[in-house]
Amino acid sequence: MTIDMSMPGSSGLLTAVGKRDMKFFSNQYVLVLTGCAGIGGFLFGYDTGVISGALLYIRDEFPVIKDNYFLQETIVSMAIVGAIIGAAGGGWINDAYGRKKSTLLADLLFALGSLVMCAAGGPYILILGRLLVGLGVGIASVTAPVYIAEAAPTEFRGGLVATNVLMITGGQFFSYLINLGFTEVPGTWRWMLGVAAVPAVIQFVLMLYLPESPRWLYWRDEKAKAIAVLEKIYDSNRLEEEVELLASSSMHEFQADNTASYLDVFKSKELRLAFFAGAGLQAFQQFTGINTVMYYSPTIVQMAGFTSNKLALLLSLIVAAMNAAGTIVGIYLIDRCGRRRLALTSLSGVVISLVILAMSFILQSSSSLCMDGMNGSCQGTLGYFAVAGLALYIAFFSPGMGPVPWAVNSEIYPEAYRGMCGGMSATVNWISNLVVAQTFLSIVGLVGTGMTFLIIAGITVLAFIFVAVYVPETKGLSFEEVEQLWKKKAGGRHDNCQSLLGDAA
Ligand code: BGC
Repeated sequence: MTIDMSMPGSSGLLTAVGKRDMKFFSNQYVLVLTGCAGIGGFLFGYDTGVISGALLYIRDEFPVIKDNYFLQETIVSMAIVGAIIGAAGGGWINDAYGRKKSTLLADLLFALGSLVMCAAGGPYILILGRLLVGLGVGIASVTAPVYIAEAAPTEFRGGLVATNVLMITGGQFFSYLINLGFTEVPGTWRWMLGVAAVPAVIQFVLMLYLPESPRWLYWRDEKAKAIAVLEKIYDSNRLEEEVELLASSSMHEFQADNTASYLDVFKSKELRLAFFAGAGLQAFQQFTGINTVMYYSPTIVQMAGFTSNKLALLLSLIVAAMNAAGTIVGIYLIDRCGRRRLALTSLSGVVISLVILAMSFILQSSSSLCMDGMNGSCQGTLGYFAVAGLALYIAFFSPGMGPVPWAVNSEIYPEAYRGMCGGMSATVNWISNLVVAQTFLSIVGLVGTGMTFLIIAGITVLAFIFVAVYVPETKGLSFEEVEQLWKKKAGGRHDNCQSLLGDAA
């Protein structure tokens, strides 16, 4: 089929769009592309999850690590430091070199880092390996959602990006399974860390057969190649419409000469508004405490009075399984209820769960409520309440605040800034992740577990207000429609595609 590539920009953009009713499972090509890109998400989950278990065995092998908490913390958090750097730089690499090369680079870092850790003879090489996989995680955390979103039909774009989040939560579950399953055979940790090279190599090979993102190609003026990719996704009617949308988009106004700069984000009102919404979502995803639960669930379970190590690990595996299962519900709901409703419902449930969790800990520490002679059973009951609060927390978080920030960030920025802004807000996510992980136990030590969860509940109320006020609904909108939406919010300018450029220049 031939497409007229000289089509003028359509001012009736919002009305020109026909019926969009493709179904999630009807497009094998996009599903395969999502599955391959999602291997990056899997490695994100696996590499951040596996270290807690691997560390137990590493400590046994290296006495110098066993006696040094600082070294242990550094081994754990170096991957997050790497992810902060990887996400910040990865955004720029995405815009300058494309989604495909970014994924290949992430794979090289994943594979190299895994092999370095596998062969490490001491703590410093291990730390280097963690830094390398962290860089890979950071780049993948920006690239996979954007690559998937740019190939996705609008009607189930959210579900496809949420599928990448399922790969993250699936990777975490798998790493916990490995942690629990592996025995204390010397050298076990080398397998646990080294095995992550395998999916990285698989993704590298698969990516060689997958195309560059059609939207990125179009923006770089490789229109014929872009259309060849779109032809694999859409039938001829829809193809024409999609190409018309691309042609009418403002992306050609800022041609791909790499003039986009990080500073533009603060100079242009549209970008500023979009970045505020995206980065805020990412920060709140972390400050509403998901990783206190993911990283410390065994500790929380023990704080609630269940002292067996094995039971604590088993319960944390159940938490990870619930998290993955909940993400599947999110995939189903995100394009039906929309991003806002899903996030707001999720946050409401999270507040309730946190209050239950907090109250069980607070009541448990004030034994006056448990009558003499009944103290044991009363404490036990409160312990069960705490675990129920934890389960409820995951049930509400996982379908909403898990996938929504990643989905929204993959779709709210204009083409020339999609990688850059997505990278900046992923950096906000990783920095917030580090802050929460590093301070949770100290805050518990300072004000108590119950009070800490109450503080997180307070932050979650702020998150609710933030989403209600600043996050627009992007369900079912094309990228072009999203651009119009920000222009309108920035001051009612509908067709002034120059505004970003003009402001930024
Ligand atoms: C978050 C991760 C988190 C995971 C757990 C992701 O969306 O970005 O930080 O560990 O969800 O479900």
